[in-house]
Amino acid sequence: MPRREFPQGVTADSISLRIGHPDPTTLNTSELRAAVASILTTPESYQALEYGAQQGVSSLIGYLVGRINREQGLSLQPDQLMLTTGSTGAVDMIARLHKGAGGSVIVEAPSYADTLHVFRDHGLPLYSVPTDEQGIDAGALLDLLERLKPSGAPLLLYTIPNFQNPSGVTLSESRRREILALARQYNVLIVEDDVYRDLYFDAAPPPSFLALADGVEVLQIGSFSKTLGPAFRLGWLAGSPDAIRRYVNCGTYDMGGGASPFSAHIITEYCRLGHWEPHIAALRERYRRRRDTLIVALRRSMPAGVSWIVPGGGYFVWVTLPPMVQASQVVAEAQARGVMISNGEWYFLDPQDGRQNLRLAFSFAPPEDIDRAIAILADVVTGVISIQ
Ligand SMILES: Cc1ncc(COP(=O)(O)O)c(C=O)c1O
Repeated sequence: MPRREFPQGVTADSISLRIGHPDPTTLNTSELRAAVASILTTPESYQALEYGAQQGVSSLIGYLVGRINREQGLSLQPDQLMLTTGSTGAVDMIARLHKGAGGSVIVEAPSYADTLHVFRDHGLPLYSVPTDEQGIDAGALLDLLERLKPSGAPLLLYTIPNFQNPSGVTLSESRRREILALARQYNVLIVEDDVYRDLYFDAAPPPSFLALADGVEVLQIGSFSKTLGPAFRLGWLAGSPDAIRRYVNCGTYDMGGGASPFSAHIITEYCRLGHWEPHIAALRERYRRRRDTLIVALRRSMPAGVSWIVPGGGYFVWVTLPPMVQASQVVAEAQARGVMISNGEWYFLDPQDGRQNLRLAFSFAPPEDIDRAIAILADVVTGVISIQ
């Protein structure tokens, strides 16, 4: 029997509310096994194992363009989308080319830690703009743009508009319009990382930046990681034909292999058989129940002074601790009692800004573990408050 491997930071006897991974029990489905078998048994199966086209497997591009047009009210053409090695591959490529152009990047405070890591790897100058429960503070963005204007550097705004990682916040429609107007005025490229768009629990999210910009000016990133399986390492990038041409011709894809062609062939077959939409619908239900379990548990057991944002979708709940309680202490004590959570400090350019925050992921652990973990976490927080 092979030894079971756990994702980084997870052990057999701990509960992880730390990792933003899908529920592992949703990954190996009979529908997916059928798609893999079908891809490997046709006479053309060798095609799925060859280098692919630079832009990506065309049948999957066609499927995604059709779906985005339907879901977001757009009329994209196939030359407006390319496949990428996950959302991360798209961010890395955009960051590299932006650095080459001498650009700077604006991120939300807080923002997705792994993207901050990518931008830092490329040595890009980084600035952050504060957010509240409606997302980016447009007034603060205007102030920052005025401040950055004299530098003349090309600017890119990286945003996660729906069910944000880590805060769970969804940017309101009015803010989206204000921010797009500012981006046009100050010539800022908006990059919307929309990997959680399909995972809404209540209402569908507001129009995307790409839809508000009629499919041009903005770059939109999607991924199969959150709604099918991260191991495919497959995502996509949509934007204007010019932008997509430029990225398709960048060094990484120019070698002719395209992004993960084997994954793309499997996913095309899976989608062609009509399996993805019902899978997404089932995930919405599953993660909605987990969010509810987590919120009920927080309400039941957290001491006064602790607050949180109830997300309308996605994977995460963002918690704010009372001023005298440090996230680092709570994270360490919870870990000692077998509960893994994320320290808010990891999501800010200045870690101090997140010292009273925790990110709790409800996607990975089953509901009974979420319940148990929150009881332990509340006990830890109560203990820390009592010795202040
Ligand atoms: C906002 C955001 N973007 C991208 C990713 C990673 O996506 P991928 O697996 O497609 O690289 C994550 C995963 O946590 C995420 O939260």
